[in-house]
Amino acid sequence: MTQDSNKDRVVIFDTTLRDGEQSPGATMTHAEKLEIAELLDEMGVDIIEAGFPIASEGDFKAVSEIAQRSKNSVICGLARANFGDIDRCWDAVKHANKPRIHTFIGTSPLHRAIPNLDMDQMAEKIHETVSHARNLCENVQWSPMDATRTEPDYLCRVVEIAIKAGATTINIPDTVGYTAPAESADLIRMLLDRVPGADGIIFATHCHNDLGMATANALAAVAGGARQIECTINGLGERAGNTALEEVVMALKVRGDIMPFYTNIDTTKIMNISRRVSTVSGFPVQFNKAIVGKNAFAHESGIHQDGMLKNAETFEIMRPSDVGLADTNLVMGKHSGRAALRSKLQDLGYQLADNQLKDVFVRFKELADRKKEIYDEDLIALMQTGEDAENDHIVLTSLQVVCGTQGPQSAEMSLTIGGEKASIKATGDGPVDATFNAIKALYAHSARLQLYQVNAVTEGTDAQATVTVRMDQDGNVATGQSSDTDTVVASAKAYINALNRLYVRRARVGENKREVNWKDHN
Ligand code: KIV
Ligand code: ZN
Repeated sequence: MTQDSNKDRVVIFDTTLRDGEQSPGATMTHAEKLEIAELLDEMGVDIIEAGFPIASEGDFKAVSEIAQRSKNSVICGLARANFGDIDRCWDAVKHANKPRIHTFIGTSPLHRAIPNLDMDQMAEKIHETVSHARNLCENVQWSPMDATRTEPDYLCRVVEIAIKAGATTINIPDTVGYTAPAESADLIRMLLDRVPGADGIIFATHCHNDLGMATANALAAVAGGARQIECTINGLGERAGNTALEEVVMALKVRGDIMPFYTNIDTTKIMNISRRVSTVSGFPVQFNKAIVGKNAFAHESGIHQDGMLKNAETFEIMRPSDVGLADTNLVMGKHSGRAALRSKLQDLGYQLADNQLKDVFVRFKELADRKKEIYDEDLIALMQTGEDAENDHIVLTSLQVVCGTQGPQSAEMSLTIGGEKASIKATGDGPVDATFNAIKALYAHSARLQLYQVNAVTEGTDAQATVTVRMDQDGNVATGQSSDTDTVVASAKAYINALNRLYVRRARVGENKREVNWKDHN
């Protein structure tokens, strides 16, 4: 495909750190947000929506620091349709080499009813707020929230107002995941045909996946004339999530024959960022998820394997290496040295400083003592294990569990809490319940368990289990993860990891708690 025409270039707008991170339970720490923003910038994302600065002090700081550290990407912040939100957003993004303000208001009949504005009053508000944003920043994006359920005539009217007020990008959100591909394309076509001034600006598509059509709808919108796709890594986002970045980017790359568009994304960085987002958000990627699922490139059946051995193209439409998966899964074991581990981790996308490698090597050797063959998945699980024995408030020191057909099961446990050792024996309905009861008895807390999930990392009875635990304490949600060949130990560590995250958050009061939700009307 030739890449010489700007009209064929699709701009990628990633909103993992805003729409994705706002999904309940996906909250990331400040450091994690900075890391993800850096990875997005490095992979060639054109615009990073870094957060919603008015939402909380923590959101503001994260957007400001991402803006300060940005290299190539445009850094965008979200603001509702009022001067306070827009000013706060500008204060955060203005540090970027390339800042953008994204302001929005719900334009469908249902959304207009909430602030109780009639069509004319809302049109006036749009004019005022977009003009205000444009006076601060020359790069302004405006979104009519719930555009796909807004009356077409009114949508044309407000889009025209926003363009006249200075918006440089108009985003058309399918906020509730209601539209279908043909309709998605027609809507963009209609706006391009009917709105004066539409040909001078970029139209964006922002789809939610409630009916499983977010990727198809985004690509259809591009066929209709949109040139910006809004998406998240792994499709992270509220309810069924947003359009997945990896899906639209790979679809455009693989099917350039029928979709002659290109992006700036270095697709070989996809797997690494997918794993990092999964770890820090605590949202595991489903095994059969397109592009980044564990089985996306696995060929289990005999017929497939035979075909693959003869010619990989028989069943493969893209190569694993196109998305950053190592072609081989060389097995490591207890005789593998530090240099081999470093090189293997580099292949998997992890660049480690010497002190980090030292720590990982110790844990690698411990694992190799318990598990003969260490696969890529085991190393990834090792890298994703969130404990930090030196700095964590609560550390698991020992655990002995008794289970069997005659309950109740019991767990004898020692923890170090704030440097003090404490021990207890607790019972429960099964070994995991007994273990969690022991933790609660040693460390009293009011956090509620929202999610407990176990996944086997590889095949075989000596496989590690990765456990994900999500806890909610007064609206602060934290996710913990851990992997171990012993499922109960992994469960205890994941639970403790979530408690440690809640502890750090409480210490920095309110950093991640949102005082304002982007859906609040004001
Ligand atoms: O889904 C939506 O409507 C949004 C807007 C804020 C763009 O996320
Ligand atoms: Zn959205």
